[in-house]
Amino acid sequence: MLELKSLTRRFGTLLAVDNLSFQVEPGTVLGFLGPNGAGKSTTMKMLTGFLAPTAGTATVFGHDIRNDGLAARKKMGYLPEGAPLYGELSVARFLRFVAEARGFRGDETRRRVGDAVERLDLSEVLGQSIETLSKGFKRRVGLAQAILHDPPVLVLDEPTDGLDPNQKHEVRRLIREMAPRKITVVSTHILEEVDALCSRAMIIARGRLLADDTPAGLLAQSRYHNAVTLVMDDLEQAASKLGELPESREVEVRRGRLTVFPASKGNLFEAVMRVVQHEDWQVDQMQLEPGRLDEVFRKVTGQEAA
Ligand SMILES: Nc1ncnc2c1ncn2[C@@H]1O[C@H](COP(=O)(O)OP(=O)(O)OP(=O)(O)O)[C@@H](O)[C@H]1O
Ligand SMILES: [Mg+2]
Repeated sequence: MLELKSLTRRFGTLLAVDNLSFQVEPGTVLGFLGPNGAGKSTTMKMLTGFLAPTAGTATVFGHDIRNDGLAARKKMGYLPEGAPLYGELSVARFLRFVAEARGFRGDETRRRVGDAVERLDLSEVLGQSIETLSKGFKRRVGLAQAILHDPPVLVLDEPTDGLDPNQKHEVRRLIREMAPRKITVVSTHILEEVDALCSRAMIIARGRLLADDTPAGLLAQSRYHNAVTLVMDDLEQAASKLGELPESREVEVRRGRLTVFPASKGNLFEAVMRVVQHEDWQVDQMQLEPGRLDEVFRKVTGQEAA
């Protein structure tokens, strides 16, 4: 288990991470969401021993990051923000170096490096120096070194940043495939990733934890949750008709779409369906909305700013 206990970091007068406390169980993919400067990377750097906390601590399967840091670090793989260090090394040499630093020797080193190279599809760039790689390949080399020792905890700072759509898909698949056996913490600005990847999501702003929920729980906070959106001709006439439904709280017409928001009682989708059939409207699209994460994100982080 991973446990943060009042983890705090100041930079001068700036409180970058403000008293974070939570626990994460194996099998969880925890997503860190939050505006630029929220403290996501700083939290990850403290967890992985790259930055000392100002106060508080964390334990990784019982090992305290402050007084048992080496044991804690052995349990973790970390993809930092930006590019891997040692830019002058070739990809193959860098990965061998990391494997040896992790304590592997001989055949085991070759096997571990070979496995990571295959998983991140790096064979074509093995001989190339890291500094000459494209951004996406640098990211993939960083991921390869993070998973080399198959650690029970993975801390990945924006793992899909800079990847092309195919590689984004592959990296998400890889993370999902490894996830059942691990604690995975990822930060991201890609909100679709929360649904595609995470079983739990946190919204952080100004170092503080503002939401901690499942992706479905966050979506349920959206005003669009269980709203019904229609694309059809004569939206204004439809809007006034649907606005009269007892199941509807509010109707909005925007950019050629009509959205009906649910009142607290009744099944709005069925009620709208009945009206559509009864009036014999020609409807191009009709959709039950799961909720919009971008709106929840703005609401939660905006409240903080206000
Ligand atoms: N070494 C440092 N010295 C001073 N301030 C720092 C340092 N590292 C981070 N900060 C500040 O701490 C705050 C949190 O930064 P952090 O990198 O953790 O944000 P983030 O949530 O990862 O943002 P992003 O989404 O842009 O990656 C920012 O205001 C940043 O400027
Ligand atoms: Mg960051």
